[in-house]
Amino acid sequence: MTEKDLIPSAYTNQVDKGSFEWSAPSNIALVKYWGKKANQIPANPSISFTLNNCKTITKLAYERKEDTNGISFDLLFEGQPKESFRPKIEKFFERVAGYLPFLEEYHFTIDTHNTFPHSSGIASSASGMAALAMNLMSLERELNPAMTDEHFYKKASFLARLGSGSACRSINGSVVVWGLHAEVEGSSDLFGVPFTGDVHEVFRNYKDTILLVDKGEKQVSSTVGHDLMHGHPYAERRFAQAHDNLSAIKKALTEGDVSAFIGIVESEALTLHAMMMTSMPYFILMKPNTLEIINHIWKFRQDTGIPVCFTLDAGANVHVLYPESVAVEVLGFINAELLVYCQNNQYICDEVGTGALSLY
Ligand code: PMV
Repeated sequence: MTEKDLIPSAYTNQVDKGSFEWSAPSNIALVKYWGKKANQIPANPSISFTLNNCKTITKLAYERKEDTNGISFDLLFEGQPKESFRPKIEKFFERVAGYLPFLEEYHFTIDTHNTFPHSSGIASSASGMAALAMNLMSLERELNPAMTDEHFYKKASFLARLGSGSACRSINGSVVVWGLHAEVEGSSDLFGVPFTGDVHEVFRNYKDTILLVDKGEKQVSSTVGHDLMHGHPYAERRFAQAHDNLSAIKKALTEGDVSAFIGIVESEALTLHAMMMTSMPYFILMKPNTLEIINHIWKFRQDTGIPVCFTLDAGANVHVLYPESVAVEVLGFINAELLVYCQNNQYICDEVGTGALSLY
């Protein structure tokens, strides 16, 4: 599929008014996307677990308007107008307008909220853009009822990517690959695709407990972070490493090799942070408590043999990953030893999920 296939020909149907509602989850990358080319094309492929509980729920109401000059929408967050979110949505609409020619024909009301606290330091851009993209595709499918499911989901992921790169991995479950990779059939830089390998049962209900170390605004936006990979002294080597790590994790996921999985996932998290520490300007996005948690996880794993590991996003919070079969032990460990390192003792329990859901 090329970008051209995502530009629709004339619509066969007409609709004047209605609404849709979708929920879309957050996702956690195992092999990280860090660095991009023009138009949100990733510099390297990535793979993620789709999450289940951290979600954005978005209702999109649409009404045909008289004029067709410009995009018009109202935006509500938790039921209240939210001016500060508008610029991001405006930019998103501008980027996708060429692929959704109906956009200027309607006035939209977007009513959105998250299932996780807004000030948790958990980015809502992935789930938010994915939920909006699903709603827009529902409208496009009304206008073109012959659309296949395959086209619907691929284009939804394509649109979400234009809003926020990693959002393209929040459409499908439960393991998603984004970015062209020699060993992943159907993989593309344009959209995320479900991992088609047979995921071993140990990974099927994998748990992700998110420890909220720092609930503040991100110190470095991901836009600035991705940009720092241009001219970065280690960029090319890092991009090649991501290809290798994706091959290796693919094998670990199908064989149920938890120890190989742990090695790749933790190395990826630390590499992401190493890229930021070695860019110009340079940043340290971990906090002292991030390191405390990592050291406690390593000691617990060493002492008990329980296969628990961590990953990080571009921030200080820690995602603790572990098989369902050791959930009781790991939650006991988290409560006894890690909560003291979380802001207000806060953490969020999540797990691998199935992707966006229609609620209408
Ligand atoms: O989707 P963005 O532009 O916010 O970038 C997200 C990048 C990481 O979360 C750090 C890694 C990833 O692959 O999700």
